Amino acid sequence: MHRTTRQAPSFDLPAGRVIGGKYEVVSHIGHGWEGEVYRIIERATGAVRAAKLFHPNRNIRDHAVLFYARKLERLRDCRMVIQYHHVEQLQVRRSPVTALISEYVEGTRLDRLIAASRGGRLSEFEAMAILHELACGLEELHGMGEYHGDLHAQNILVRRRGIRFDLKLVDFYDRGRGDRRHQKDDLVDCARLLREMTGGPRFTAATRSEHLRYLIGGCRSDVISRRFQSAGDLKHHLETFSWPAS
Ligand SMILES: Nc1ncnc2c1ncn2[C@@H]1O[C@H](COP(=O)(O)OP(=O)(O)O)[C@@H](O)[C@H]1O
Ligand SMILES: [Mg+2]
Repeated sequence: MHRTTRQAPSFDLPAGRVIGGKYEVVSHIGHGWEGEVYRIIERATGAVRAAKLFHPNRNIRDHAVLFYARKLERLRDCRMVIQYHHVEQLQVRRSPVTALISEYVEGTRLDRLIAASRGGRLSEFEAMAILHELACGLEELHGMGEYHGDLHAQNILVRRRGIRFDLKLVDFYDRGRGDRRHQKDDLVDCARLLREMTGGPRFTAATRSEHLRYLIGGCRSDVISRRFQSAGDLKHHLETFSWPAS
């Protein structure tokens, strides 16, 4: 579900640059198809926040930023979703740019966590623990009639806490109407993520356990929907499956 096209020109905000009169840029933290994200600090309080600046050509009449803001606001009680604060206008090289101010998430992007792991893959248990967190969060989110729409490893921030993983989702994407279909697509994206966490397509199916292969389902939408009708089904499965006798 990656949105791929040419890279938009970057904003390159320097540290110290003021946003909306009340924030100051600390550093650049990431970028993607739609925008650029900075770690910022509220000058009056020292509170740390994130500002996502939207590329104007991917945010016609503020459609993208308003979609994202409204979605985050509706999902403000879901613990897997970043907290929305407000939108700000700023001028970059004399052009108006809209920024979405949100909670700043301490965490590692899932793709970086995978790359930093031994052999470039997580253990089967870690991967299933992350999948379980995703299933729990999606059950809540889908239960509210919503979907993510662009679930891939760069849009998931992970923090290890004890034996668990805390996940935060960023970058919800507007796929239009048809929530049920988009929720199913979120589940197929979970299967893709599981494949990626366990080594990606370069590891052939034969190197994975039978159970992992069952969960990945060849990343096929028809197979996944037959096995798991909902995120709740996936969660239930992960909480109750039988391990092979050892
Ligand atoms: N609230 C946040 N806190 C910390 N990092 C963030 C936050 N939002 C986004 N990021 C980082 O910035 C990157 C780009 O943000 P994202 O919203 O995915 O932009 P795009 O739509 O351009 O892909 C993400 O991959 C993530 O690493
Ligand atoms: Mg992104």
